[in-house]
Amino acid sequence: MKSLLLLPVLFIFSESVKLPSNFIKCNRKDPDWKKCVFEAAVHATPQFTRPFKELNIPSIEPLLVPEVTISAGSNAFRLTQNYKNCMIYGLTKVEASAFGFDFDKKTIHLEGIFPELRLIGTYTFDGKILLLPVVGEGPGEVTFKNVKSNMTLFYEEYKKKEKTHIKVVSATLKLTPSLIHFKYENLFNGDKRLGDNINQVMNENWEALYEDIEESFNQVVIKIFTSLVNSVFSKLSIEEAFD
Ligand SMILES: *[C@@H]1O[C@H](CO)[C@@H](O)[C@H](O)[C@H]1NC(C)=O
Repeated sequence: MKSLLLLPVLFIFSESVKLPSNFIKCNRKDPDWKKCVFEAAVHATPQFTRPFKELNIPSIEPLLVPEVTISAGSNAFRLTQNYKNCMIYGLTKVEASAFGFDFDKKTIHLEGIFPELRLIGTYTFDGKILLLPVVGEGPGEVTFKNVKSNMTLFYEEYKKKEKTHIKVVSATLKLTPSLIHFKYENLFNGDKRLGDNINQVMNENWEALYEDIEESFNQVVIKIFTSLVNSVFSKLSIEEAFD
């Protein structure tokens, strides 16, 4: 399954940075290290509603992604979903239940619930949904409710100016929404009856649709998180992030 994603890239010119004072710094030798990292993450997350140029990342509330492509499934969702100028709302609203770095296993683990994730963008469809031919282009909105999330990022270390940096190289992810709501305007060139009908059928069958493109969707989410984490840790070394 292929997925395409283009993230905005910010450039800064300093080689490496210190952890901005907005964030809690944890000591790896602290007996409460795990608790500290979790609390630091919980404390940090709501701050990403603004860009941190020094950490090489844009605001993630919303996160603007210039283009997202989710591959066609083989069953219910037999069309490639393309979204331009996609805004993703709700990433900073995560209610984390676990967050941690494991320096031995070289993993970053996150578990939690996103109460609502909303993707808004300009969609292009041409294919079949639940065996019905669907074409259209226009404003589209997909809302995910109560998304249970379990993600592990696997990273490699590299040295830059004698400091240790990390780069995520693979990931596992399970996202379990309790509901998905689709709203695509201007389907079939604005034929309202046909368009309303497709939206209704999609909403009634959201589980089958999600199951069919889950893997491709996960790849998109993994790319987003990988890109953000790699961006931060290309600037911020492990030695600066933690005592
Ligand atoms: C999260 O996923 C990992 C494997 O990817 C699994 O071992 C763990 O049990 C999962 N946690 C929950 C709460 O489902």
